[in-house]
Amino acid sequence: MNYWTVIPAAGQGKRMNAGISKQWIELLGKPVLAHTLDVFEKDPSCEGVVLVGSEQELKQMQQFVQTFQYTKVRQIVPGGKERQQSVYEGLKQVPEEADLVLIHDAARPFITHDSIQQLVNVASDSGSAVLAVPVKDTVKKVVRDQVEETIDRSSLWAVQTPQAFRFSIVMKAHEKADVEGFVGTDDASLVERIGETVAIVMGDYHNIKLTTSDDLLFGQAILLDRQGEKHNAHRTRF
Ligand code: CTP
Ligand code: MG
Repeated sequence: MNYWTVIPAAGQGKRMNAGISKQWIELLGKPVLAHTLDVFEKDPSCEGVVLVGSEQELKQMQQFVQTFQYTKVRQIVPGGKERQQSVYEGLKQVPEEADLVLIHDAARPFITHDSIQQLVNVASDSGSAVLAVPVKDTVKKVVRDQVEETIDRSSLWAVQTPQAFRFSIVMKAHEKADVEGFVGTDDASLVERIGETVAIVMGDYHNIKLTTSDDLLFGQAILLDRQGEKHNAHRTRF
């Protein structure tokens, strides 16, 4: 099934503390945003991309899209203060006739075609699906430096992007959240709020979000591993 993609890239990357927003950081000689956009540009099922940038960076983003000759980027629009507002601005630019929409953070450049395909397959049946991986650490609820509760790990999943939704569902969820002033930590939480069921699709531990500088180290390792894979198909994938 074909889909549209909204890519929020209007954050400031405060926790990365790199002096520039995360999408411009170069990994193995290529900006993070290029790593991310390349995946959607090359996917024949992706009909178009709406890129959301901060007001101050819109010119830079337009120039970047021109330089890299991305044909799938149909709109570049200014975002909002919170990620949720940026996504909402992006969704407003998706054409009415779109069926399925993927929302994917610019700061998650290691997303694979395989994961996208599995996500799209499930979401086109069920209406809403997210990529996620089982939590590996033991998670405790802490209040004032003391453990209050150890949460049963077997039911905990760390949710990633892309998150995929039927367009009408995710638009309704964002409209309602906007009207009611509700801010969620991901798009699925807004969809859950309107009573929709969200399916979980097994993701990939390599699909990390670049958040702090440690993640750049992991990111570089992931890319080097992939380069190695290309040269030696029998190499073990960690
Ligand atoms: N994002 C956005 N608009 C915002 C905030 C975030 O489009 N107002 C985007 C970011 O550019 C990023 C994604 O949402 O691609 C995930 O957000 P996050 O990892 O929190 O990035 P930043 O907000 O840039 O980082 P920080 O929170 O450390 O400042
Ligand atoms: Mg943020």
